Amino acid sequence: MPIRFPRNTLAAFALAGLAVTASAQGTGKLKVGLMLPFSGTYSALGVAIENGFKLYVDEQGGKLGGREIEYFKVDDESDPAKATDNVNKLIKRDNVDVIIGTVHSGVAMAMAKAAKESGTILIVPNAGADAVTGPMCAPNIFRSSFSNWQPAYAMGVVAAKEGKKTAVTLTWKYAAGDESTAGFKEGFEKGGGKVVKQLTLPFPNVEFQALLTEIAAAKPDAVYSFMAGGGAVKLVKDYAAAGLNKTIPLYGPGFLTDGTLDAQGDAAAGMLTTLHYADGLNTPKDNAFRTAYAKTFKLQPDVYAVQGYDAAQMLGVGLAATKGDASKKAEFAAAVEKAKIDSPRGAFTVGKSHNPVQDIYLRKVEGKENKMVNVAIKGLADPGRGCRM
Ligand code: BEZ
Repeated sequence: MPIRFPRNTLAAFALAGLAVTASAQGTGKLKVGLMLPFSGTYSALGVAIENGFKLYVDEQGGKLGGREIEYFKVDDESDPAKATDNVNKLIKRDNVDVIIGTVHSGVAMAMAKAAKESGTILIVPNAGADAVTGPMCAPNIFRSSFSNWQPAYAMGVVAAKEGKKTAVTLTWKYAAGDESTAGFKEGFEKGGGKVVKQLTLPFPNVEFQALLTEIAAAKPDAVYSFMAGGGAVKLVKDYAAAGLNKTIPLYGPGFLTDGTLDAQGDAAAGMLTTLHYADGLNTPKDNAFRTAYAKTFKLQPDVYAVQGYDAAQMLGVGLAATKGDASKKAEFAAAVEKAKIDSPRGAFTVGKSHNPVQDIYLRKVEGKENKMVNVAIKGLADPGRGCRM
């Protein structure tokens, strides 16, 4: 017996079909899925990325590639166990044309797998998982931020140049912590240093006391830590409260002190970190971005806001080349690959694996700022190990 649908159901299917076709073919609104942490340790990072993204879109009159943007939002809670279900809400339920996300490396890897399978354009506005622009790289996957290796390797090089001979690492035990530690070790040991102990704790645990006691006993020349958001605030304060900052400098990629200085206060004074953004760059592009961001959101921007802004710029470049048609993947990729992105961090290009090739700054905490000291490594490209497009 044939299945009979009521008339209004058929009409709804027909309308949904029309909407999908219109969206894919570059007419009507472009559906952008924002999958970011809006709760938990990384929630402030998610908000800054969304703000930065929307700031750029608003500066373009609310349109990219001639198309108005319609947003769909999912809070990923920085939980890798929920990541596949969450990204499928955007891909299968909402039929988005493009996904922007996320912060946490473990969540981003599940998103990259889903994007690779579905062919949906994915722009990663933070998560540094080396695999995303390594073995998981794909023509439809891009990153506007960094690989975990990039700032970590630079900090290793700087620590060795500072004359440090031994270091202990202290990170969360997940891809970002593991890869950040590996990058630091590579740069530090190339310069003659030695990582003597690698301490970890599960994400997002912040019970640092026992580990700080181990560090005090080991007496290394330096400590290197990957922490961000709420975890970074707590570590920097606990480290200073234990008096360790007086004898053993605490180094890290800039996530340790970016967007966190109000909460860290004096505990962060003088800290050296490396990152692809810094305060006091004093370029026309950065000054305009900072003024606009502060005026719109009544907040100072940080690296996460920059990465969100640049994710929107990259999307704009790709859509301009396809006249707003996100289904033209090859033309989209070709345009982004040859573009120079005019970022507040300084102009950057994307390498073959679609990761930014960018300057890494050495920064020093002065008051409430991560002041640029110098360019630690110019035009640093991720090795893109294992990427075959
Ligand atoms: C990550 O998981 O890749 C990450 C999270 C926060 C800041 C930087 C990297």
